[in-house]
Amino acid sequence: MLFNKNPDDIKKFMEMANDRRKIIEETPATPLPKTYAVNELSKALHPGVIPAKIVSIEEVGNNCKTIRLKSISENKRFPYFKAGQFVTLSTNVDSSFVTRPYSISSSPKEAMEGILEVTVQKAGFFSTYLIERAKIGDELVVGEPSGDFYYDNLRDKKNIVAIAGGSGITPFMSMIKSLEENSDDFNLTVFYGARTRKDLIIDYKDVKSSKVKLVIVLSEEKVEGYEYGFITGELLTKYLPETYSVFMCGPDGMYKFVRSEFEKLGVSKYAIRQEHNSIGNRNVENPREFKLTVHMRDQVYTVAALENETLLAAMERAGLKAPSRCKSGSCGFCHSRLISGKYYVNKEHEYRRQADLKFGYIHPCCTYPESDMEIDVPPFNV
Ligand code: FES
Repeated sequence: MLFNKNPDDIKKFMEMANDRRKIIEETPATPLPKTYAVNELSKALHPGVIPAKIVSIEEVGNNCKTIRLKSISENKRFPYFKAGQFVTLSTNVDSSFVTRPYSISSSPKEAMEGILEVTVQKAGFFSTYLIERAKIGDELVVGEPSGDFYYDNLRDKKNIVAIAGGSGITPFMSMIKSLEENSDDFNLTVFYGARTRKDLIIDYKDVKSSKVKLVIVLSEEKVEGYEYGFITGELLTKYLPETYSVFMCGPDGMYKFVRSEFEKLGVSKYAIRQEHNSIGNRNVENPREFKLTVHMRDQVYTVAALENETLLAAMERAGLKAPSRCKSGSCGFCHSRLISGKYYVNKEHEYRRQADLKFGYIHPCCTYPESDMEIDVPPFNV
């Protein structure tokens, strides 16, 4: 029953139409806003892609360069990010359209000022292009900051132990800057492995925050004030705080070695967070060439795909704008539908959900062809 027999309820109901009319009459006849604060905030945090221009290139270490980008988007900013995250850079290189992830080496505060830095080491097709051919004034497309390689006070201990190898120091450079600017609040002990001092991207003089302890470990040069050798359990125990979470970024070989050293110290693998590395070519002798048919909206393309390269690499080489972000199989941004064909995925990069396996979805960034294939790929709006 809508009303009980309370006369007050009945009276309120009878007055409802009049009250509503009065509210409508008193409302100003101004048009509704075209945009709302919450939509603006969402656009600022998730702009999709950000056009940017190279404003400086600085040589750091051996075969490494720090590329400084300025946002040329409408709001002249980059979205806010957590120190440790990565962005993708995309551009046309000759007849290919290439996208690669790079850890951000600048601070979150600088992103608000429209500046973003990545530190690139010469290795692979796109990084070599950036080191050898990119110049000031070139325009690149920057993807949204991504990844979960950052300090989270709900998940991590207050003391972070960072293990960095070579250019794996870059996400920690961002964390160091973020701590110096008080954008983050934790204690950071960085074990930074390099071959010689010439290979260093940062040195002791670059660290100013009392919350950061840097330990540089040189494997091929003995220098006073620097540790010598590898990041062993024995070396770690000299500097480790009492309780801590571990973050690692570097080559796969380093992950394997340092993980086993932590194991000896009784550190659970769940306390170790490691950044995913981009997937390279598969080791196949005399790789066969297959036909890859790609559906993108209402277009169909046919490209050549080698047995030792990922489907994403084949599409990029052919100049197709296929979506990609982490290039390690973990983020799902390249999620595409398999129509037909046989393929291989290394189990270390198998992050697909059960539903993807059941209904035939693949991540082209980590899928190698083993026959002719046909796939349906969402377009990448850059
Ligand atoms: S780009 Fe992240 S899963 Fe393929």
